[in-house]
Amino acid sequence: MRIIKVKNYEEMSRKAANIIAAEISLNPRTVLGLATGSTPIGTYERLVELCNTGDIDFSQVTTINLDEYYGLEPTHEQSYRYFMDKHLLKKININLENTHVPNGKAPDIEAECKRYDDLIQKAGGIDLQLLGIGHNGHIGFNEPSDEFIMDTHCVTLKESTINANSRFFNNIDEVPKKALTMGIKPIMQARRVLLIASGDDKKEILKKALSGPVTPSVPASILQLHKDLIVVTPLDI
Ligand code: F6R
Repeated sequence: MRIIKVKNYEEMSRKAANIIAAEISLNPRTVLGLATGSTPIGTYERLVELCNTGDIDFSQVTTINLDEYYGLEPTHEQSYRYFMDKHLLKKININLENTHVPNGKAPDIEAECKRYDDLIQKAGGIDLQLLGIGHNGHIGFNEPSDEFIMDTHCVTLKESTINANSRFFNNIDEVPKKALTMGIKPIMQARRVLLIASGDDKKEILKKALSGPVTPSVPASILQLHKDLIVVTPLDI
């Protein structure tokens, strides 16, 4: 594990974007695993800038997002598809057909989970997976549990996650109670994982995830076993 200590959120975002840019320069056909939430917004802003200046070419890149709320249309302003289009995908020179987010409105959720796992496999797995971390240690929407769930699945969100994410909705009742999430396997099989975290409210959980016991009650703790984990954070951990 490499921990890159930075001064603040802005530096974290620049460093993370530069790591992603370097990956794409070396491999124009990179398969990028992407996250949503407030943490990566600065990274996406920087990636858009680097694309505008011609420093990154996304034309052959594939993106595979971690998760999506169950029951939200892709056009819903709080859907993760909408988030990704708004913050990154519609602002760069990527072929939108090569960008993937689970379909939270799929009529057959089991089939959708299987389709997503097949898609990851057909893409040859993920080259670089960008991750944030939830206050309860979740990665994607892999919530604390008795076991690590390997494949894409539909998860009932924990109350703490619903509370945390209610800041994006008009009221807490609008927050979906379920989500589809990539499982632990493709994250751990990603050739490189880039974890970003900032804000004092993330300090304890980040410490626990990176130096506490590896346990499904803190899903991010599994990352300690990843062979190429880069953590970029301004937090003293
Ligand atoms: C969402 C995702 C989540 C977030 C986590 C932190 O795609 O992967 O695991 O990274 O909930 O969210 P923020 O960045 O909003 O604190």
